[in-house]
Amino acid sequence: MKHFLGIEHLSKDEIVSLIHQAIELKAHRGKSGFGGDALKGETWAMIFTKSSTRTRVSFEVGLTELGARALFLNANDIQLGRGEPIKDTARVLGRMVHGAIIRTYAQQDVVDFAEYGKIPTINALTDEEHPCQILADLLTIHELCGGWEGKKVAFFGDGDCNMGRSWAWAAKRLGFELVIAAPKAFQPDAEFMARLGEAPVTLTEDTEFAATGADVLYTDTWVSMGREAEAEERLKILAPFQINAATMTLAAKGAIVQHCLPAYRDKEISGELFEERAIEIFQQAENRLHAQKAILIHLAENRGV
Ligand code: CP
Ligand code: NVA
Repeated sequence: MKHFLGIEHLSKDEIVSLIHQAIELKAHRGKSGFGGDALKGETWAMIFTKSSTRTRVSFEVGLTELGARALFLNANDIQLGRGEPIKDTARVLGRMVHGAIIRTYAQQDVVDFAEYGKIPTINALTDEEHPCQILADLLTIHELCGGWEGKKVAFFGDGDCNMGRSWAWAAKRLGFELVIAAPKAFQPDAEFMARLGEAPVTLTEDTEFAATGADVLYTDTWVSMGREAEAEERLKILAPFQINAATMTLAAKGAIVQHCLPAYRDKEISGELFEERAIEIFQQAENRLHAQKAILIHLAENRGV
């Protein structure tokens, strides 16, 4: 693995090995000999076209803890924002920095950056996938549910967004059951499902079917970044897909609630359920740091291999 562009492109072994490394890094955070020098003296560029709290902070802190410097570049402050092609930006940065972390719209932009920059490139969220988040989610499920084997994950809301798609790839690679409960218009489209191929993934409009016996109830905002113009319509159509106390009554004993955040109370999740489950949701947010440090170390080790 030279780049981290999507769960689609990872094998089961690569995912599992990153999770194991993240567990080690979390257990030994701050102790010498545990990744402290892995990226010593390096500079990693972070090119962000969209807003971020968790991804930005966890990568900046993670890079610092691994001995590297984070160079945060708001896409609007560099020539990229004025139309300089991503491949030219990549060819410049590839000669100056050691790796790149990119948050943007088009998946093709991170693919192009990786190709032209020739430095380790990480997808920090595109419209297609949010693989860093999935790794943190899997780590949390491992911690709270003892693993994902044999588990049922139920995703509610906009199933056709980056999170829904990354979850589908995770289910395919790791073999757990995923049910995506979404209105037809917000289910992954036929082209995506054809690319996914055979996978333990069910699409449904039936929220009760999705919730019944689920070990993980997962949701995400109904209005992903870039979709703000559709907000009013989305909030109306997606309203029946909120997770709340009634959803919980159908879930498996010991079920957990996960939300990639930021959360919009009383939209995709009731305010009451969110606060009740805040501990596991913010444990999930913290795990971004540990999971991404594992990705950074892995990419640094594989550079030039
Ligand atoms: N979950 C997530 O990626 O959060 P940010 O948008 O704050 O980075
Ligand atoms: N689907 C959301 C995820 C935010 C972390 C978005 O793209 O805005």
